[in-house]
Formats: sequence, structure tokens, C-alpha cells
Amino acid sequence: MLLLTILLPLASAASVISRSVDRLPAREDTSTVGLNDAAHQANKLYFGTATNYDELNDTTYFHLLDDIHMFGQLTPAKAMKWEETEPERGVFTFEQGDQIAALARQSGKYLRGHNCVWYNRLPAWVTNTTWTAPELAEVVQEHCYNIVHHWRGQIWDVINEPFNDDGTWRETLWYNTLGTKYIPLALHAARKADPHAKLYINEYNITGAGPKATSMKKLIKELKLAGVPIDGVGVQAHEVVGKVPSDIRKNLEEFVALGVEVAITELDVMFYTLPPDEAGLQQQRKDFETIVGACAAVERCVGVTVWDFTDKYSWIPGTFPGSGDACPWDDNLQKKPAYYGIVDGFEKKH
Ligand code: XIL
Repeated sequence: MLLLTILLPLASAASVISRSVDRLPAREDTSTVGLNDAAHQANKLYFGTATNYDELNDTTYFHLLDDIHMFGQLTPAKAMKWEETEPERGVFTFEQGDQIAALARQSGKYLRGHNCVWYNRLPAWVTNTTWTAPELAEVVQEHCYNIVHHWRGQIWDVINEPFNDDGTWRETLWYNTLGTKYIPLALHAARKADPHAKLYINEYNITGAGPKATSMKKLIKELKLAGVPIDGVGVQAHEVVGKVPSDIRKNLEEFVALGVEVAITELDVMFYTLPPDEAGLQQQRKDFETIVGACAAVERCVGVTVWDFTDKYSWIPGTFPGSGDACPWDDNLQKKPAYYGIVDGFEKKH
């Protein structure tokens, strides 16, 4: 008892100190609310992040990732892609995806399956064969059925990036061999594999109105009319600092009006050139607030996911050399002003 009376004041003094230290570098940034908690307060299902199995050994990173107050949803950045899950025809490798699925399950987070049909990250057996349309239809159906069935009860990006930026169909192996039919084929296979999964089409550069968003709306309308199972549009939201569209809310509302839900699925806001100055970081904060605020304001925008939360593991520098710093935590896993932009977006709604 005596020990407790000595220790308790010490513990609370320590937490006051650690909280004020946490606040110091954040200047006017005073909120210490977790992002998943902030999302719940805005009536969203989750705030989530992409992650990768080889990042899970980083203990500081893992500690943050695991925290349910911070993240309520995970998307595997690589582990459920085709080359990882079906490296040879009919040979399914689920181990890496299972690690992330187990982590989500243990920490009570939603899991977003990513993805069934994309033009990228395909194994050689898929890309090096000349398929007839019926053969390729079977390949798509088998793949989607098996992975959605293995990771059942989830949200799935069934189709990833079907359009070019000008709104025309991307000329992928799928489109060139099957035409637009590959979309209903994959969606039906996914529905058969899991009647309860939320089935999405996911795309970038559809955050605001434009030719690509228009084509996506047309596609959703057609799928709905034809009775094809489609539950949501994934708005990736890979954006550039200072260039975030001003009509995000209206655009999201137009998707929702077609009878689907929406989610921000891969949010990051990159700097073209590095390092950013203080004004740049403040602009990035505003940009995160604008995007999150638009989702917060649209009832059927169900959640927001960042495409990894730290610059340490962001995909941007690897894909766009010289660019980066796109995430709300920096390379040292310290919060950036962008973090508070997310909190403000959930609180204020735009
Ligand atoms: C990226 C991953 O982050 C990288 O690790 C991988 O090497 C390539 O793919 N849009 C998507 C994601 O839908 O699957 C991409 O992820 C980023 C762009």
C-alpha cells in the first residue's frame, strides 16, 4: 500500500512529463488523440495503414502499428498481391499475408485485402503465356476465388487501377484479352468466395472530379445496373503537397449517390523535392486535413487508410526517386504536422 502511494504520484508525474515532452516539438499541435479514436469520433469505422511483413520486426514501428487507438485497420502493401499469393498456377502461398491477417485479428483491426486483379506485380506464368479469353477468364476466377476465400470476412480491393488518367481503359493483359468482362468476372468470383466481403474497385487520381473519376462513376453505374456485386470505390489519394483537389467532398458524394460506399485507401501527400521547409510541412498538414475532412463530412465514406504511416517505409522514394516525405510520421517515427492535420480533418469535417 505504502509502495503504491509512493509509486502512483510518481507514475502520474511521469506521464505529465512525457505528455508535455510529446507536445513540445509540435508547437501549436496540442492534440494527443489517437487517429483511430479520432476516426471513431467522426463516426468512421477506422483509421488504418498499409504495412509490410518485413517491417514488423522494427519494434518502435510495431508498437505504433499495434496500438488500436492509432490504427483500426491494416492493408498488406505487398503480401496479398498475385506474385506473392500464386507464384505458380494453382500453388497458393498465404504465409506472408497470414502474418498481417493474424496481426489484424489479434489487435482487433479490420483487414483490407489488396488486391485480386491488377496489371502490376504479376508472376511470370501469368505474363509470359499467350492466353485465350476463356483460359484467362478461368485464371482470374481461380485466383480471386482462392484469395478472397482464404481471407474471408474482409474488405477487398478486387480490381485495382483499371483506368488511364484520361479515363480510357488501361490496356492491361486483362483488358486486352477479356475486354471489360474481366471486371464482373472477378467481382462475381469474389462474391462467391465470400458473400460477406465488401468488394471494392480501387483507383488513383479519382480524389477530385476529372476524366478518371467520370469513367469510374460510369463503370459503377453499369455494374449496378447489370446486378454485378460491387460495394465500394477505393479512392487511393496519392497526392502532391499543395495540389490537392478542392472538390473532394462533392466528388465522394457523387460516388456514394450511385449506391456504393467509399473509402480513402492509400493516402499519402508527397513532396516532389526534398527536404521540405517548415512552410511545406504546414501545407502538407493542410492537405491531410482537407482530404480527411472530406471523408469525415461524407456519411458513407467509411474510413481512411495511409499508405504506410512513416516516411521510413513509404513506397514513394523507391517509385519516384528524389520525392518523398509523404507520410504523417517522419523517418525517425516522430509525428509531423501532417498528423495534426488528420486529427483536425476528423474533428472539423470539410
Ligand atoms: C506499392 C507497394 O507499396 C510497394 O511496396 C510495391 O513494391 C509496389 O506497390 N497503388 C497501389 C499499391 O494500389 O498496391 C501500390 O503499392 C502503390 C500504388
